[in-house]
Amino acid sequence: MSDRFSVQGRIVCVTGASSGIGCFLASTFVSAGASVVGVARRKDKLDAWVEEAGGAGGKAAAVVGDLVDPAGLEDIAEAVKSRFGDPEIVVNTAGMNPRLSADDVTLEAWRKTLELNLSTPFFLARLFVPAMRAKGWGRIINIASMQSLRAMPNGIAYGASKGGITQLTRAMAEAWSGDGINCNALGPGFFPTELTQKVYGDPELLDKLAAQTCIGRNGEMDDLVGPALFLASPASDYVTGQVLFVDGGFTAK
Ligand SMILES: NC(=O)c1ccc[n+]([C@@H]2O[C@H](COP(=O)([O-])OP(=O)(O)OC[C@H]3O[C@@H](n4cnc5c(N)ncnc54)[C@H](OP(=O)(O)O)[C@@H]3O)[C@@H](O)[C@H]2O)c1
Repeated sequence: MSDRFSVQGRIVCVTGASSGIGCFLASTFVSAGASVVGVARRKDKLDAWVEEAGGAGGKAAAVVGDLVDPAGLEDIAEAVKSRFGDPEIVVNTAGMNPRLSADDVTLEAWRKTLELNLSTPFFLARLFVPAMRAKGWGRIINIASMQSLRAMPNGIAYGASKGGITQLTRAMAEAWSGDGINCNALGPGFFPTELTQKVYGDPELLDKLAAQTCIGRNGEMDDLVGPALFLASPASDYVTGQVLFVDGGFTAK
């Protein structure tokens, strides 16, 4: 029974592995026996992650690259494949939030946000689909957000991208699940990362957000382990096109 949740021996690509949720998930997969390639721009942070996660005999490797530039995605995908082979599991975690209001958002910030948060998860993952299809098994995990469902202040570009990712997840599932490639998304509540530094610097706001959940607290990284392993493993063989919210019931209330 527990084997159903195994990712032992799998090859995983995690974008945004230099910090926050991506770094945590990349380490989670290494600990669970997978070979993991982390992608992001900051080489020093990725190197530190490789040393830490790969240190105890785990398999971790880094690819440095800017995922905002669509022209660079093929080179990044080739570099990822060169580390451990073709990834069977792709976790699209890299993301940004310019936190600009509807009145102030610039076209440049809008385009960058939509490119990184919405376009890259599709165009990067698609480069790994032929190998997954040939194996008849694969997993694509996108990262949604409570802003996939709810409007929040200064979230016009971020919310549009995260709203889009839920429908992209369904469309990817429609396209590729017949080949054994299930596509789902994790929808985290509030978790302490660089992205949410501003929120975590405001205790009153944090308390308010915690009170808005059903469980009564904000997210802790360990809350993501089970849901991530579920979506990455044979345990979710009959689950595709879904968003699994890991938000303490925030969006249920
Ligand atoms: N934290 C939360 O509460 C929360 C809630 C819901 C959803 N999310 C989502 O979770 C994902 C991870 O966010 P996080 O909270 O962990 O934030 P984070 O700590 O800021 O991580 C963002 C990651 O994305 C990478 N990244 C940013 N721009 C990039 C680019 N141009 N090219 C390549 N990589 C890039 C960053 O690496 P480099 O800077 O090194 O490139 C970093 O590894 C995002 O999709 C976010 O929307 C987070």
